[in-house]
Amino acid sequence: MTARTVRAPAKINLHLGVGAPREDGYHPLLTVYQAVGLYDDLTVRPADDWSVDLEVPDWMAGVVLPALDDNIVTRAARLLAAHHGIEPRGAVHVAKCIPVAGGMAGGSADAAAALVALDRLWGTGTSDEDLLRIAGVLGSDVPFALVGGSAVGTGRGELVEPVADVGTWWWVAVPSDRGLSTPAVYRHFDELVPDAPADPPPADRLVAALAAGDPHALAAALHNDLQEPAIDLRPELGDLLARGEAEGALRGIVSGSGPTCVFLCESSDAARAVAGAMTDDAHPAVLVTHGAVAGAHLVTYG
Ligand code: C5P
Repeated sequence: MTARTVRAPAKINLHLGVGAPREDGYHPLLTVYQAVGLYDDLTVRPADDWSVDLEVPDWMAGVVLPALDDNIVTRAARLLAAHHGIEPRGAVHVAKCIPVAGGMAGGSADAAAALVALDRLWGTGTSDEDLLRIAGVLGSDVPFALVGGSAVGTGRGELVEPVADVGTWWWVAVPSDRGLSTPAVYRHFDELVPDAPADPPPADRLVAALAAGDPHALAAALHNDLQEPAIDLRPELGDLLARGEAEGALRGIVSGSGPTCVFLCESSDAARAVAGAMTDDAHPAVLVTHGAVAGAHLVTYG
């Protein structure tokens, strides 16, 4: 079998409502995800053993990538292989474009891409139901990376239900040169909000804005409970959000647990103008993208 490439998107949390920690330590979420057009491409080839190598664009040079052994791609391979009672074999190449440790679920995208690509490579024909379940074991955001589009996430984020979305939404994403630890941001949320509800409330206004396709309504409804803890840990993010809005974005929010900040803009031209104005020595790689886009999908057939 020849090489197969699977492409998987980054996500933005348009709404991230966080509840009080559960007994297993995870937080109950009511989130609305949107998949956006920044992708990692994962290519698998047949091999007698197992290997993963990573390629990053110039603007990511210097980022610290996880060691092979606890790489989420390797964990995905082991889980899928164990499910079918086979040995994980293959040579995997990951071309990254999603900011690492940035709150845009780049690792989750790689895991979702690995599940889809290896299922093809190994001819294991995993059912959608099993693929989604294995994805949920790998990480809270991994099922959404399979599904894509715009969707409500509940549980710890792994239970995904698509929602109506008629808009084309233009985003500017400003990555940071240093990642932010997701567990650390959640811990700080617990310190700042000791009385969080057991069940975070629904995001009706935001879901209605997606169904109406109105960028002003969406801008007004964007919400992230992890924004305050992320800014508390990284105060410059607050300044960055204010700057994007002053440059013409409808609204800026921290993406997930951060530190990437995303800015909703009225049009592609507006997004390009905001991105141009925000590019500087501290932020050399400001990205323009749009949503919603498809989840992990095969891009080479043959
Ligand atoms: O599920 P995932 O591996 O992506 O989660 C990474 C970390 O983020 C968890 O170990 C936990 O500290 C935190 N987390 C959480 N509640 C969630 C999702 C993630 O506390 N719903």
